[in-house]
Amino acid sequence: MPKQLAKLGPALAGEHAEATTIASLRRQAEGCERCDLYKNATQLVFGEGPVDARVVLVGEQPGDREDLAGRPFVGPAGRILDECLHEAGIDRSECYLTNAVKHFKFEQRGKRRMHSRPNAGEIQACAWWLGAELDELRPEIVVALGATALMSLLGRSVGVTRNRGQLLTAPGGFSVLVTIHPSYLLRIRGRSDPEAERARFVDDLAKVATRIG
Ligand code: URA
Repeated sequence: MPKQLAKLGPALAGEHAEATTIASLRRQAEGCERCDLYKNATQLVFGEGPVDARVVLVGEQPGDREDLAGRPFVGPAGRILDECLHEAGIDRSECYLTNAVKHFKFEQRGKRRMHSRPNAGEIQACAWWLGAELDELRPEIVVALGATALMSLLGRSVGVTRNRGQLLTAPGGFSVLVTIHPSYLLRIRGRSDPEAERARFVDDLAKVATRIG
């Protein structure tokens, strides 16, 4: 039985942007100044995918490549995600991919732009858009890729480690699958057992394939 949740995060509770289509939501978001991240990012990276997708995957924020391309999950983490989705029997082109935070946050070190984690205020501010995307898409399953996505969806009391691999049911809503962010698989190379961790991630995603049949 899926676990029922009492609490929700800012993307599922409270007020969100209003629009009648994803395209018009995106146009609104392009002028977003709800937090300061728009000042240094190249552009907004909004979600993309079919508007009738049954599955929505939520990442943390665009990375360097995504910031330049203006599309989610087109860099190294996106490549691993694509491979693992494929192995789990899920077609990326049938999913809607988005992020909890829509502008790239980074620290400039010399020529390199180093990823910097969004804070609670930035996650809260951008939940205005993620919540609106979900209101519009009404998917069956939302996959929370890592702690930032999970915080935006279900608040700070639901941890990735404790709930990993579970399909949680939000009151009156869709199921949320809790799993890691694919960039974790890039970071652990040479430390833990990367193949076992990757297989575990594929197993988590396979639960989505099983649920949607
Ligand atoms: N990491 C994310 O969380 N999202 C992206 O779009 C790319 C990398």
